[in-house]
Amino acid sequence: MMPPPSEGREETLDPQDWQAMRALGHQMVDDMLSFLEGVRERPVWQPLPQDVKQFFQQPVPTAPMAAEQVYQEFLEQILPYPMGNIHPRFWAWVIGTGTPLGMLAEMLAAGMNPNVGGGDHAAFYVEAQVIEWCKAMLGYPAEASGLLVSGGSMANLVGLTVARNSKADIDIREHGLGSLQRRMTVYGSREMHSSIQKAVELLGLGSASLRRLPVNDRFQIDLRALEQAIAEDRAAGYQPFCVVGNAGTVNTGAIDDLMALAAICRREDVWFHVDGAFGALAALSPTFRPALAGLQEADSLAFDLHKWMYVPYEAGCVLVRHPQDHRRAFSLTPDYLVHAARGVAGGEQWFSDYGIQLSRGFRALKVWMSFKAHGVDAYARLIQQNVDQAHYLASLILETAALQLLAPVSLNIVCFRFAPDDLPEDLLNDLNAELLVQLQEQGIAVPSRTTIDGKSAIRVAITNHRSQRQDFDLLVREVLRIGSMLRQALEQGSGIL
Ligand SMILES: Cc1ncc(COP(=O)(O)O)c(C=O)c1O
Repeated sequence: MMPPPSEGREETLDPQDWQAMRALGHQMVDDMLSFLEGVRERPVWQPLPQDVKQFFQQPVPTAPMAAEQVYQEFLEQILPYPMGNIHPRFWAWVIGTGTPLGMLAEMLAAGMNPNVGGGDHAAFYVEAQVIEWCKAMLGYPAEASGLLVSGGSMANLVGLTVARNSKADIDIREHGLGSLQRRMTVYGSREMHSSIQKAVELLGLGSASLRRLPVNDRFQIDLRALEQAIAEDRAAGYQPFCVVGNAGTVNTGAIDDLMALAAICRREDVWFHVDGAFGALAALSPTFRPALAGLQEADSLAFDLHKWMYVPYEAGCVLVRHPQDHRRAFSLTPDYLVHAARGVAGGEQWFSDYGIQLSRGFRALKVWMSFKAHGVDAYARLIQQNVDQAHYLASLILETAALQLLAPVSLNIVCFRFAPDDLPEDLLNDLNAELLVQLQEQGIAVPSRTTIDGKSAIRVAITNHRSQRQDFDLLVREVLRIGSMLRQALEQGSGIL
């Protein structure tokens, strides 16, 4: 048995040598700033060698190791193998880049380490201010409530939860779905993000309650089909309760006609949720504000700060038009969480009453510091810059005979493929899939893959404040180089695909 610790010498996790910890901290800051400063010189991504993967099979460490040595392991086994999204030529999925200031803010937030679920302390006011700023930036009603969450998926889940609970004929929280008389149905275009389906499933509605409607040639929801689907469902005895509008679809960046959707929702008395994970932020740029008109009409609005606001992971936001609906969906105050009039349990509002999490981190600080230090106008310019880069890339594709643009460029997403005229269609999907992997494995660039009308596409989504035009020139050159090499290999029957 361990002897009881003698009085005054109880154990702690604080360093015994603060000076050494300080030196280590300075070293870490220096190393990470150099790492970010030199990011362009390194490959975008490189596969982890087998021995590095093996390194992570070690058993639970029961005995201590010097912090300096643990840091050395980080430098050798972890830091050289990033996802790559901090690199100027990372354009996969929709993934943000982060910033040096955001990184430092994360350290400050972890140092203070508050729980922003509730209580009367500065972190609450920082988050409340960030939410006010978000509403103002997007022109969303000032009286709305909001919450910072882990990302777009959680923001969609929170929005749809409030929608379901507000529109249900019964008190869902008390009685549950089993007491519903009518199946509750949700509508959106077939281009909706998968997180909407996850939310519908998690809410117990079943994915069969999600209607995926066709799109027009600009990948926007077909409004006639929507109205018809709502009418048919009503006639069948269902309860249409929510329409999801896309402000920037994940595949092509398409923006639905949000104004028209808002009008349909009001007429039909259904909740209007907008998934604006990245596209909502385009409203910061005067050029795009008109295309996003109607965003402000949403009953709930989901968007990310870790995508097109370049804040380090994780940071998303949900805004809800009517705070009472929002609070009613989540508020629960057992004795041990009673809000007080005074003391640390005070505060007019607890964020735990507006979402799923009770304990919540101080993710607001990196947003607050970034907005202040860079100024929101800088984000508007960077968003515009990314959109201009997408159009620049599209123009390069259009003027290159061997490349084919697969969808119109609405925002920051470009889908294309290597498709010389004389290559048969049935070879193109495999060839382009291989081409994409080679771009990644050679560390040149990281686009991702999608399928547009059955065609395998190289998809470039630009939410990257480090990208420059020269990066897109290089991408096109390398796609042509690898594409021609693969084509040659095919002609020689090398079996590379
Ligand atoms: C349109 C859209 N909605 C929702 C999400 C999910 O957001 P997150 O990855 O932050 O959970 C994404 C992610 O790319 C997206 O593009």
